[in-house]
Amino acid sequence: MTTSDIQEDGEPTRRDFIHIFGAVTAVAGAGAVVWPLVSQMNPDASVLALSTKEIDLSSISVGQAIKVMWQGKPVFIRHRTAAEIEEANATPLGALKDSAARNENLAGSIDATDDARVTPANGEARPEWLVLVGVCTHLGCIPLGTASGENRGDYNGWFCPCHGSHYDTSGRIRKGPAPENLLVPPYEFLSDSLVKIG
Ligand code: FES
Repeated sequence: MTTSDIQEDGEPTRRDFIHIFGAVTAVAGAGAVVWPLVSQMNPDASVLALSTKEIDLSSISVGQAIKVMWQGKPVFIRHRTAAEIEEANATPLGALKDSAARNENLAGSIDATDDARVTPANGEARPEWLVLVGVCTHLGCIPLGTASGENRGDYNGWFCPCHGSHYDTSGRIRKGPAPENLLVPPYEFLSDSLVKIG
């Protein structure tokens, strides 16, 4: 407010009333929008449904992998062969570039053993199913190795062609510039053939 806005007798001018009325209206308006905002912050069933995804595994044969979208990101699900599981288990931790499990279902600092990579939020490890966020940990490309015939890299897992990162059959980084293992998202088994991601 400038001095010209104040009358010499100290009474507010018409412009002051407009300002004061505007401020009161703004406060009342702010109060009116608080509840809808708070209300929107409580996720209802439809929002929760969007944040999770159920996948029927029954049609994925051994050796096959699929890609699904979850929360805007690709998720790889591979039905691993016995040889792929064995290969992952036979890899000493010392051979890994990233020794952290990076499994969102496990709390704390856990080594990147194959078991730790295939443990869901509920129950024991299920080595035949590998679930990964399909985003390269270097600069975010989507690695190859899910569709049949795609280049799976030097370690028979996934290969990121952007700058040449190779992941093994447990989704662990083995060669190239990517610094971390592919992330294991939150997931749980609802039955032997139904998995819920998120
Ligand atoms: S983004 Fe995958 S190697 Fe660079």
